[in-house]
Amino acid sequence: MSRYAYVNGRYVDHRAAQVHIEDRGYQLADGVYEVVGVRDGKLIDEAPHLDRLDRSLGELRIEWPVPRKVMGFILRELMRRNHLRDGLVYMQVTRGVSRRDHAFPTKPVKPALVLTTKATKRIEADAGAGIAVKSMPDIRWERCDIKTVALLPNVLAKQAARESGAYEAWLLDDKGCVTEGASTNAWIVTQDDELVTRQTDNGILAGITRSTLKKLCDSLQLKLVERPFTLAEAKKAKEAFITSATSFVTPVVKIDGDTVADGKVGPTAKRLREEYVRFSEAGEPVT
Ligand code: PDD
Repeated sequence: MSRYAYVNGRYVDHRAAQVHIEDRGYQLADGVYEVVGVRDGKLIDEAPHLDRLDRSLGELRIEWPVPRKVMGFILRELMRRNHLRDGLVYMQVTRGVSRRDHAFPTKPVKPALVLTTKATKRIEADAGAGIAVKSMPDIRWERCDIKTVALLPNVLAKQAARESGAYEAWLLDDKGCVTEGASTNAWIVTQDDELVTRQTDNGILAGITRSTLKKLCDSLQLKLVERPFTLAEAKKAKEAFITSATSFVTPVVKIDGDTVADGKVGPTAKRLREEYVRFSEAGEPVT
C-alpha cells in the first residue's frame, strides 16, 4: 500500500516527495508547522490547531498557502488516501523558494505547503508506568510562542534526555523554573492538590492539548493555577505529567533520576488521561 504526502498542490508517493533545495524552510528554518492528532480516523482539535497555524503564519508574515477551508480538505484527503486511523497529521508552511538571502524575498514567492501523516500505535487510556524526564537549560529564543520549524535546541535537549534514558527533556529558565518540555507542556500536582502549569507567554508554546485539558479540569472542578514552578517544586510534587497532541496526557514518574512521590502513576494524571482519551474519541469541541 503506498503512502502519500502532499507537496505544493500534489499528492505524491511519500518516498519520492521532494522540495526545492532553496526552500527557505530547508536553508533558514523560515517556516511554521502544526501536528494534529488523529484518533479513530478523526482529527483531534482541528480548529484550534488551524487557529494557531494562522497565528504563527501571521507572526512571521507568511501568507496562507491555500485558503483555510482548502487546508481542511487536504488534511482529510491525505488521511483518506493513507487510511489513517490513529496517529498524526503534520503540516508545514515555509516562506517558499528563493535565492538564499536572510531578508524576505523582494519579489513575492508562494509559500510552500507540505503535509504528511504518520500512523502510530493507538494511545491507550491506561497510562502505563509513566515516563522519566531530564532537566536541561532552556537555550531557545524569546518567541517560543511561535510554532516554527527552528527546533535545534529542542532536538538537542530531547536527544540528551534519550541518551540519559529519559523520554522527555524539561527545559529550565535562568530562575530554575520549568518552562515546558522539548515537545510537550509540563504540569505538576502540588501537595495541596493544585494543578500547576506555566502561564502562556512568549516563553512557551500555547499547547492545544494544554488548552483542552484546562477546560476538562474546569468541568471536573480541579483547581488549576497557571504560574511558573521550579524543578525543586516538581521533584516534591504529588504528581507530574506532560501534554501534547501526540502524547495526550502522560504521567512523569521520575525527574533527573528522582522518583516523583512513590514513583507510581498518580490519580489525577490517570483521570485526566482517561478524560482526554474520551474527548479525543468524541471528536467534538469541549465547551
Ligand atoms: N509538539 N511545547 C512544545 C515546544 C511543542 O513542540 C509542543 C507540541 C507542545 C504541545 O502542544 P500541543 O498540545 O498543541 O501538541 C508544547 C508537537 C507535538 C511536535 O512538535 O511534534
